[in-house]
Amino acid sequence: MNGNSLKLRPTVLVIFGAGGDLTWRKLVPALYNLFLEGWLPEHFAIVGVDRKAMTGEEFTEHLRTGVNQFSRRGKTEAERWSEFAQHLSYRTADFDDQGAYQQLAAQIATDRKAWATNPECIFYLAIPPALIEMVVVHLGKAKLARDRGHARVVVEKPFGHDLASAQALTRQITKVFDEAQIYRIDHYLGKETVQNILAFRFANALFEPIWDRRYIDHIQITVAEAVGVEHRGGYYEHAGALRDMVQSHLMQLLCLIAMEPPVSFVADEIRNKKIDVLRALRPLPPEHIHKFAVRGQYGSGWLQGEHVPAYREEPDVAAASTTETFAALKLFVDNWRWQDVTFYLRTGKRMPEKQSTIVIQFRPVPHQSFPSSAAMGWEPNRLLMRIQPQEGIILRFQAKQPGPLMRLSSMDMHFAYAEAFKTTPPEAYETLLLDAILGDATLFMRADQVEIAWSIMAPILAAWATVPPTDFPNYPAGAWGPEAAEALIAQDGRSWLLPALEQD
Ligand code: BG6
Repeated sequence: MNGNSLKLRPTVLVIFGAGGDLTWRKLVPALYNLFLEGWLPEHFAIVGVDRKAMTGEEFTEHLRTGVNQFSRRGKTEAERWSEFAQHLSYRTADFDDQGAYQQLAAQIATDRKAWATNPECIFYLAIPPALIEMVVVHLGKAKLARDRGHARVVVEKPFGHDLASAQALTRQITKVFDEAQIYRIDHYLGKETVQNILAFRFANALFEPIWDRRYIDHIQITVAEAVGVEHRGGYYEHAGALRDMVQSHLMQLLCLIAMEPPVSFVADEIRNKKIDVLRALRPLPPEHIHKFAVRGQYGSGWLQGEHVPAYREEPDVAAASTTETFAALKLFVDNWRWQDVTFYLRTGKRMPEKQSTIVIQFRPVPHQSFPSSAAMGWEPNRLLMRIQPQEGIILRFQAKQPGPLMRLSSMDMHFAYAEAFKTTPPEAYETLLLDAILGDATLFMRADQVEIAWSIMAPILAAWATVPPTDFPNYPAGAWGPEAAEALIAQDGRSWLLPALEQD
């Protein structure tokens, strides 16, 4: 399939922060892949804006090195790259210089004239949160936000630092853009396997009837990373795992697993259904946060055969930092479907491997008909949704072991994306950029969603800020988090099912 089957309108994509890492590693490799696969319109312009002085040629060459290094399609091919490069331009500008925005407006006006139509204008803010208001105000003054139907602003996460700052940011942006023009990114929503949760749940008649408290015992969501904080210590010191991962990515996964079936796949319908889940989350009692939330910070340790430093030894990290690099939560969704089903969430850096997996643990059968001698290897059903890596779905069920006696044993049915579709799926940013071009906001976050997610985090953030951790670092790099995370789930008579399941 290629983009010709979609209504792709002429588009100008302006990237503020075009000299930065995100543009280099993610945005431009994604745009180039869209171009190669015919998903970009015939008329399109990518305008990079940043403070760094660079010529157009230098910018293009810099971007090419990024594509060569990070694109899922490998190195660029000279002819195709030079075709793509014709659509690129660069402007050295101070984000506070109104004149630069006027020039940008003039450039867009030239494109409009040449293309004889009002193009889609996407302003991608790949800039630190502190600069967002400034850029948005200047865009407004340059009348670049006025065309409500065609102008959009894409805002990267983190969207705010807490509830109050997220609300303030929305207030600032909505002085210039309407809410419907604001595309808040959570790149997890662009991942193929995350979108597949919807397909799996709502395109199959099989699972939905058992997708509730009557059949499901509990749910575990693990987003583990092997990497440490890398070069992002400066940002991460003020974020931590709860803000960086849980408030956004893990909350989104929880919503997709727990939401009611949508009536249609219209953006607001899906977003409303997700918000219903967040609204139903049981508020955590401030005085008992420790029973529901656990934090950790990695010390030095061994990971994949290499000795790696402690978080406190990373660049731009305070020597006595109390920032958490691991968080585990126990949550409940108070509605008919999920009453008393526990949702366990955990995420951390410097864990043994990169692994994002959702485990749906079903209840035991209501009555065990088999003699105990037959059922020694018996286990309740379990569904694993692997988001990354080795994307796929694994269903565990019981089967009779071959032989004259009745003996049950657990078997896994595997569905692997790579094998089934024999193609590399698009990167999350490919999907999200294309959706931004098409004006489809389904996979982007609305203000109310972001705000509810922050309000769920609020009591944990407050409790953790009030009582600093005394045991950090409390897990060595290469471990699955602190002991307290094991205790959090063990007190319910359960255990984290990863990595045990992977080793079976
Ligand atoms: C980002 C976080 O949103 O997601 C990072 O800021 C994290 O800290 C990253 O490493 C993980 O994304 P992915 O796609 O590698 O799972």
